[in-house]
Amino acid sequence: MPDTKTDKRQILAATAHNIARAAAILRDGGLVAFPTETVYGLGANALDPVAVKKIFAAKERPYWDPLIVHVTSVEMARTLAIGLPERLTKRFWPGPLTLVLQKLPCVPDEVTAGRPTVALRMPKHPVASALLTAAQVPIAAPSANRFGCPSPTRAEHVLADLGDRVDMILDGGPTEIGVESTILDLTRMPPVILRPGGVPREELDNAAVAPAVEDEHVIAPGMSFKHYAPRARVEVFETEDALRARAAELPNAAVLIPKAETLFAQLRELDSQGTPVILALLPDPVGLGLAVRDRLTRAAATATVSDHSRRGGRAV
Ligand code: TXA
Ligand code: MG
Repeated sequence: MPDTKTDKRQILAATAHNIARAAAILRDGGLVAFPTETVYGLGANALDPVAVKKIFAAKERPYWDPLIVHVTSVEMARTLAIGLPERLTKRFWPGPLTLVLQKLPCVPDEVTAGRPTVALRMPKHPVASALLTAAQVPIAAPSANRFGCPSPTRAEHVLADLGDRVDMILDGGPTEIGVESTILDLTRMPPVILRPGGVPREELDNAAVAPAVEDEHVIAPGMSFKHYAPRARVEVFETEDALRARAAELPNAAVLIPKAETLFAQLRELDSQGTPVILALLPDPVGLGLAVRDRLTRAAATATVSDHSRRGGRAV
């Protein structure tokens, strides 16, 4: 059971007044949860190591898992890292693409888990950009969930996971994309997609990212296999026939035909209903389907999409 106190007064509408208050909290070393176009983030001043440490404590996140730094402009990004590719920032920023680059010395080790690289992203959500503009500091922000739980796509999800561990939750309504940003590591040649996400792989291919590859041995450090996990057991299926056959065997199981925008909210909702097993259909690996497959496969955790599920059996 979460031991956080929940107080609905922490959730505030994202008015100009509250955004200004949130910016002041960030500058004073506090924690603010805020909406982005992907999922809600738990923000702290990225240049303040003490504030950044509070993020890890609130989320119960291991210190070896580095944070994404959110910026308001390419100029701000240039103060944090070298080698920003104009071709990509022009096309994909602001938006759900995180770039891993060589960091500059001003970025604290607390943010990067001691790595020589930093992950940067310019969010598109108007509340996130207004907050960054008001705060005038880069904001380190992981997803605002307990480590390992499904990411939050509504302010209420943040409250349920983090309660009074956060100084303020800015409410921007449900997030639009619903899965986290695509992470592209530009310190490798060719660049590697460390996490599929809000920018589909096809769009990166079109932008000729040299070409971006996925490498099953190279994933973002936080993408440990068991991740995004609801309390229910998750089983994943390649075909609806296979899923229906399994559902007939398990009358208590819930069936999930996922869409990116509602995936995490549905996993949380099924948990709150006490569903013991979730049977999920894997979408085709195109567009946002690739990210949805990735998150569900990790939630299932016991097996990757196995050949036998592809042949119509079940993945266990
Ligand atoms: O859409 C998103 O990216 C959201 C919103 C809030 O921006 N953020 C998010 O953060 O998903 P988080 O911390 O939940 O996931 C960030 C991932 C982690 O798996 C982490 O290991 C990886 O990014 N990461 C951060 N810095 C990295 C680095 N220098 N090199 C490689 N991976 C890095
Ligand atoms: Mg996360």
